[in-house]
Amino acid sequence: AIERTLSIIKPDAVAKNVIGQIYTRFENAGLKIVAARMAQLSRAEAEGFYAVHAARPFFKDLVDFMVSGPVIIQVLEGENAIAKHRDLMGATDPKKAEKGTIRADFADSIDANAVHGSDAEETAKTEIAYFFPALNVYSR
Ligand code: CMP
Repeated sequence: AIERTLSIIKPDAVAKNVIGQIYTRFENAGLKIVAARMAQLSRAEAEGFYAVHAARPFFKDLVDFMVSGPVIIQVLEGENAIAKHRDLMGATDPKKAEKGTIRADFADSIDANAVHGSDAEETAKTEIAYFFPALNVYSR
């Protein structure tokens, strides 16, 4: 089925100047960018986005990292987009990510792991709505 998923290029990858290389991977996999913006997240925005992780020991480091510099946020659309995007990203921990994945190629650590992607249909809906009002999504 045609799905949408939320993607974030995190501060480490923006700082490395690999936005274009990551976009090219999305495009070559048949994922279309139907919404996009650059943002410097506030602590409140980052904490709200990652609210499901609020009780985890890594939460503060995660939020610190996500506000450390600008990010690029986009909605990707395509056949099986959620799983396809996760395959392109590779494992959360770059040390465990398969060769040729975004995280294996561009990430430095489990915190500075280059990209975020929604993990399921319900989270994709919530995450897309969190950053993009419907009128800012341009499908076809
Ligand atoms: P992300 O897919 O953006 O979702 C939550 C983030 O928390 C994750 O990527 C990692 O960057 C970060 N994180 C740090 N430590 C852990 C951990 N032990 N397990 C999962 N995520 C972690």
